[in-house]
Amino acid sequence: MMKVAVPKETFPTEKRVALVPANVPQLAKVGLEVEVEAGAGEAAGFLDSHYVEKGARIVTRDEVFNADIIAQVRTLGANKDAGRDDLSRFRQGQFIIGMCDPLGEPKSAVEIAETGASLFALELIPRITRAQSMDVLSSMATIAGYRAVLLAAIELPKIFPMLMTAAGTLTPARVFIVGVGVAGLQAIATAKRLGGVVRAYDVRPACREQVESLGGKFVELELEAGDAQDKGGYAKAMGEEFYKKQRELMASVVAESDVVITTAAIPGKQSPLLITADAVKGMVPGGVIVDLATERGGNCELSQADARVVEHGVTILGPTNLPSEIPNHASQMYSNNVTKFLLNLIKDGQVILNLEDEIIRDTLVGHEGQLVNARMREILGMEPLPAPDPNAEITLTSEDIESDSTDTEDNDGTQAKESDG
Ligand code: NAI
Repeated sequence: MMKVAVPKETFPTEKRVALVPANVPQLAKVGLEVEVEAGAGEAAGFLDSHYVEKGARIVTRDEVFNADIIAQVRTLGANKDAGRDDLSRFRQGQFIIGMCDPLGEPKSAVEIAETGASLFALELIPRITRAQSMDVLSSMATIAGYRAVLLAAIELPKIFPMLMTAAGTLTPARVFIVGVGVAGLQAIATAKRLGGVVRAYDVRPACREQVESLGGKFVELELEAGDAQDKGGYAKAMGEEFYKKQRELMASVVAESDVVITTAAIPGKQSPLLITADAVKGMVPGGVIVDLATERGGNCELSQADARVVEHGVTILGPTNLPSEIPNHASQMYSNNVTKFLLNLIKDGQVILNLEDEIIRDTLVGHEGQLVNARMREILGMEPLPAPDPNAEITLTSEDIESDSTDTEDNDGTQAKESDG
């Protein structure tokens, strides 16, 4: 029987776990035995006993890494320092499934590939209907958008809803959301529920309807966004001229807002700078900015990663790991995503690498000792690989993996370096 194992996360402050007990029976049904490192789910509220009740085995960290498939929240790349300790534990023929920041830290994926393990980067799940249930970026952005509004509400020296009381009338908080992707939409919904008056802007005009359906007002800026959307539904990078004009036009909206939540992102690129220090100065004292894009440089000039900055009386927060602050539900969503991904990958208890399947092809970034993802190779200036045979279907059983790992124990490091060219 193939084993899928869940190590305890080692990224500092990380409280999520890759699989929750509720998903164990679903995996057992397709022939996967689930093993969990002792205490792996504790920070998210899932005790070892909960896993055992659902049929999982509790094991040591060393045992976890003997499994055929390792499911992580953050593997090396998304866990730059501590994740390095796992490298020596990965082995030929093993499958690693997790977030690895493929476009930001592609070199880490090369290092994992060089161990002989195959790496699936869950951030690269295509945004297609069939893959929605596996889309970890959307799940985690949902949690982040919600949490960002709560953080702002706590910082704001005002309440969100309008109140008419015997002690006078309190006006509602004015909230401005920049970037109406998954995080932005959830931020709009959450701010509305709290009673704020919400406005939002996105370069993709298609967002207007979504903003309005949540009760927000779409902000019109006199900007020619043209074809701002790629075929994957993500925003394209605009020119610096565009951003300059956007910053100028948005400054007045920022000045009229008590809370600004920024989520503007371009996949694989630095986030556009949209709120200057001057625009922050224009806000009323007590105003709050939560910059969800801080990890990629930030949408606000003053935001700093995981810091609380106060300038001109305005508080600017730059949290980079909000999903981990709501670890129970974030883990539940992530685990459902991983489970759906595994159910698509496993047939009759075996891993089927069907490269005709867009989901498998797009997420498989390291395989047979080398980086196989074209986009990541391009970022690293590596020669493109010959196109894989789209009809190739590789079936791997746990027996194959075991024999692979013994056959190649002596030379897999050298082999991997050679093939990397
Ligand atoms: P997404 O790709 O769904 O949405 C980003 C939105 O920004 C898109 O709708 C895009 O059109 C828009 N955008 C791009 N350029 C813009 C511009 N110049 N002006 C206005 N809008 C613009 O991304 P998602 O999943 O909603 O994530 C949003 C951000 O939140 C990302 O930076 C992501 O890395 C970050 N994030 C942060 C977390 C944290 O803990 N801080 C956790 C999860 C996500």
